[in-house]
Amino acid sequence: MSNTQTPSVTQCAAWKALAAHHLRVAGLQLRQLFADDPGRGERMALDAVGIYLDYSKNRITDETLRLLLALADETGLRGRIDAMLRGDKINVSEGRAVLHTALRAPRDAPIVVDGVNVVPAVHAVLDRMAAFAERVRSGAWKGHTGKRIRNVVNIGIGGSDLGPVMAYEALRHYSARDMAFRFVSNVDGTDFAEATHDLAAEETLFIVASKTFGTAETLRNATSARAWFEAQGGSDLAAHFVALTARPEAARAFGVGRCFAFDDGVGGRTSLWSVIGLPVAVAIGRAGFEALLAGAHAMDRHFAEAPLEANLPVQLGLLDVWYRNFHRFGSRCVVPYHHGLRSLAFYLQQLEMESNGKRVDAHGRPLPFDTAPVVWGAVGSNAQHAFFQMLHQGTQVVPVEFIAVREPAHTLEGHQPRLLANALAQARALMLGHVADDAHRHFPGNRPSTFLLLERLDAASFGALIALNEHRVFTSGSLWGLNSFDQWGVELGKRHAGAVETGLASGRTEGLDAATAGLVRRLR
Ligand code: F6P
Repeated sequence: MSNTQTPSVTQCAAWKALAAHHLRVAGLQLRQLFADDPGRGERMALDAVGIYLDYSKNRITDETLRLLLALADETGLRGRIDAMLRGDKINVSEGRAVLHTALRAPRDAPIVVDGVNVVPAVHAVLDRMAAFAERVRSGAWKGHTGKRIRNVVNIGIGGSDLGPVMAYEALRHYSARDMAFRFVSNVDGTDFAEATHDLAAEETLFIVASKTFGTAETLRNATSARAWFEAQGGSDLAAHFVALTARPEAARAFGVGRCFAFDDGVGGRTSLWSVIGLPVAVAIGRAGFEALLAGAHAMDRHFAEAPLEANLPVQLGLLDVWYRNFHRFGSRCVVPYHHGLRSLAFYLQQLEMESNGKRVDAHGRPLPFDTAPVVWGAVGSNAQHAFFQMLHQGTQVVPVEFIAVREPAHTLEGHQPRLLANALAQARALMLGHVADDAHRHFPGNRPSTFLLLERLDAASFGALIALNEHRVFTSGSLWGLNSFDQWGVELGKRHAGAVETGLASGRTEGLDAATAGLVRRLR
């Protein structure tokens, strides 16, 4: 079948059956489902790759799951998973393979693209990057005055920032405690100024992370970093600036010393596993970084091999489709009950909304249904005191994803039981609600949630958790028939920014719309 003949998911028998099924089950109450079937809590759960997934508190029945799996079959999900993992050129609008899973493949697991096994090259780069990380970490890499590097400042934005920040925070417990790690992303100079105000240039290594080495914000910050370094008497740029990029020639022209290159086929939002992970590798060391890759790879194997009904990413992706297209829920809220995961929601926003925030399918045909939900959230228990009011009693139903970690990384007494109790209690309260005569005190309940439980938050389990989310986004994107691996939507704003910046500098507003021209005049 040619591409243009690929039928839309809405033409699948299972999609139509799901629409009819939704009408029958839309009014079901979770309380009642549990009362009728107490075994549901145990049955609607999966345990794989160190992650326990309890999806029983969702508005689903066994029939819902059967139909969703039928939809996965009918849309050829298994074949699409195989194609991605095999290195087929599934990013059709850019004509390339997607290679983030190759970055965590073991040395002896070939992935062939255009007749070439890409895995040896991946490991050659990883070896070089990890060896450099160890030199910085051990103090063998010296600054221009001969002092060891104590501060690492990562300059990058989007995928060149969100993954490394999140991973560093999550794994900080295992990090080199005698070093400082900072992350600068915003072109607002406040970010750079605050990140560097207490640092000495002679002890600071800047990592300029940009796949394209053309992102305006990152280049601005890198230029400020160079000026800051030189203003403190810094002389040897090569000892203090390295670049992580797919465009090494542009980085060299800027004046960095070392370049660690990665392939164009690695998307920004899935680049944590590439050299973009350098600040994380410095923080947690080579062994830690390899454990991170191994955890993600274990999830890749699970995604590839587990039957669809026992497949963690597939179950989550199918639930996402069920809620988005049949219940028409507009957002998903993620609340990790671990302070190390406080930036997870930001990372997931890019992962989901840049990947699946599309209005046409992979062949450019308009999609007649909604795609990526708004993904949002914050760390628990803080979030309870911010937006949980709306989750419990607001007019919109928002499925919530709780993430809890059984074993804490600290030894403080009394914290962990209270933290875990809060997570469990919130999920329970959302489901059960509370009947009261006073309308203000009445909770409707029946608010769905999913519960993910990790044994501990370490490099391997964290790697698996992130890969799980990558693959669930791929699953829903596949069912929707869109290309999850391009991001043309980000380009338009970048183009406009150039014209507006010229207007702000020169005062010339010809060509700008009247509203923007007015604001430019006020800002000058
Ligand atoms: O925000 C758009 C985007 O292209 C992201 O996809 C990417 O992660 C980010 O910009 C940064 O790009 P680069 O790594 O090329 O600087």
